[in-house]
Amino acid sequence: MAFVCENCGNRSAKWMGFCPQCLVQEPLVEEVPAPSQRTSRKVPAAKKIRLDEVRSDDAARAPVGIGELDRVLGGGLVSGSVVLLGGEPGVGKSTLLLQAAGQLGRQGRRALVVSAEESAQQVAMRADRLGIGGEGVALVADDDVDRVLAAADDDPPDLMIVDSIQTVLTQDASGSPGGVTQIRESAARLIRFAKDRGVATILVGHVTKDGGIAGPKLLEHMVDVVLYLEGDPDRGLRALRCLKNRFGATHVVGVFEMTADGLVEVADPSKAFLSDWESSVPGTIAFPAVEGRRSVLVEIQALTNPTQNPQPRRSVRGVEVARVHQILAVLARHGGVSAAAHDVYVNVVGGWKVTEPGCDLPVALAIASSLIDKPLGPLAAWGEVGLAGEVRKVPYDSRRREEAERVGLERIIAPNGRGNLRLRGALVDAGLLGGLHPV
Ligand code: TYD
Ligand code: MG
Repeated sequence: MAFVCENCGNRSAKWMGFCPQCLVQEPLVEEVPAPSQRTSRKVPAAKKIRLDEVRSDDAARAPVGIGELDRVLGGGLVSGSVVLLGGEPGVGKSTLLLQAAGQLGRQGRRALVVSAEESAQQVAMRADRLGIGGEGVALVADDDVDRVLAAADDDPPDLMIVDSIQTVLTQDASGSPGGVTQIRESAARLIRFAKDRGVATILVGHVTKDGGIAGPKLLEHMVDVVLYLEGDPDRGLRALRCLKNRFGATHVVGVFEMTADGLVEVADPSKAFLSDWESSVPGTIAFPAVEGRRSVLVEIQALTNPTQNPQPRRSVRGVEVARVHQILAVLARHGGVSAAAHDVYVNVVGGWKVTEPGCDLPVALAIASSLIDKPLGPLAAWGEVGLAGEVRKVPYDSRRREEAERVGLERIIAPNGRGNLRLRGALVDAGLLGGLHPV
């Protein structure tokens, strides 16, 4: 006999109240042998179809009417598809989806909003504030998946929104809402309904502290599309990212701003960024990041403060901390700028996360600018900093250049790929060497 974890599938000979592999706090369950292992039975054969007889139905994709959302979805919602929308509490998931429901309603289509978290009054108040009229939008404030599906079955909508998958439950499964068993069973029922009745469905998923969608990892595999709404809840901008899409490209990003009238699309995030950028203070620089097919300017900031602490602080948000450690080492060794006696803070403004190595050079310049206490002024930079102090070319050079120039940033420091740039030279080009900090 064996016991399995319903979250990660890990098997164990012994029963335990949690999973020693993925550490989910849900008891292991006894493994049930698959029926084929118990008895062999005769089954009817599945139907084979020639590939060219299957029509891939593009017509089934319908735009929601919110440009940035449609772009991330790959053109719109596919009927019968299931989308998981993750994000931290307060980032704006419920707001975005209520606006999507309102847009569908305005086009004469029908949306069903299932609210298991907020009361009908709360949702109605929010809809009022967002100026969403009642036409086409129905509301069910219930947390029982089976009751909800019975209501939806009477009159299937074009879009069903379930807010959230962690707060709905089915009486037929054990455990409490938000637990692995309940999430999995509730999601399975919702997904089956979506496929059977051709209802596009969006499930809201809360994220855990480490940034994943809470609940079984299986959830991400069960759905067709996984979206994340990110951003700093204290700041205006929000990024909608696609991590998985069975009907389109991933790594597409949509940008919104949270305003008093809800989420507003930001068609030109780089311009929005420039409008409140203070380039005259030390430690800030523009980095044209590439997200999918789009380049977006982000601000990278660094702050350094002298410290007596033998182990100075390295506090990093938005870029990988290991990169910052490496950049500090190269700056000291090849740039002649040492932060060994400084606390260092690095931040990508607006809650963006940058994972490309192209941010090495702007991070290095921002840190050096703060150490030397000299502003960089309006400057864009990109390039990967190597351990030998060289700055390497990164992909999409022309796209980054175009984006910086488009918004009027003319000072650019970037390698041309022919070994023309070293970190020390970049510091000189940026106007930082001269006010050289003691090594
Ligand atoms: P919400 O959609 O409830 O977030 P989530 O469902 O992801 O938890 O929105 C959260 C915040 O957005 C909330 O703190 C208030 C703010 N907000 C606005 O600033 N403007 C608005 O028009 C709305 C509806 C909300
Ligand atoms: Mg919500």
